[in-house]
Amino acid sequence: MVKALVLYHSQEFGNTGKMAEAVADGLRSAGCEVTLHNTDKGRFDASTFPGYACVAFGSPDYYSYVAGGLKTFMDDHYILHTRKGVKGMKEKPYALFYSHGGGGKVREAMLGLFKYVGTLVGEPLGCPGEPTKDVLVKCRELGAALAKKAK
Ligand SMILES: Cc1cc2nc3c(=O)[nH]c(=O)nc-3n(C[C@H](O)[C@H](O)[C@H](O)COP(=O)(O)O)c2cc1C
Repeated sequence: MVKALVLYHSQEFGNTGKMAEAVADGLRSAGCEVTLHNTDKGRFDASTFPGYACVAFGSPDYYSYVAGGLKTFMDDHYILHTRKGVKGMKEKPYALFYSHGGGGKVREAMLGLFKYVGTLVGEPLGCPGEPTKDVLVKCRELGAALAKKAK
């Protein structure tokens, strides 16, 4: 089974977490085995990252930037894999989603930070406040589209 990772941060209202669950549903519906990890609950072990065929990153907008736990992951990933030239580490399909309070400038920050992982699938999916049913449908579609790009 293709292994997929949904790595996100959700802390205040659970908004990003709801989006993450829906992205995971979409990945599962397309046949992936999904690991969900909320960096608010602890640091993600970046050494396991090469084992995933694709990844979805989800962040709340924090001061127009990515939540600290996800930035920490990218720092760890760079030191462990990118710096050492580990094979395949710049080729992973990835998707982006984010939650915000009305600003949403984190979109640009996410595009700038996560580009080191591989190839973006679809467009970053943003949502103000609590995700509506329509947004959750789009999250599922994004997960399914990501799964199609995973080898
Ligand atoms: C420390 C902090 C900084 C924030 N900065 C912004 C911001 O710059 N722009 C914005 O639109 N929302 C901002 N927000 C609002 C959150 O992005 C928004 O409430 C989000 O839905 C929270 O996601 P969560 O419920 O998954 O934790 C901020 C929230 C916090 C706690």
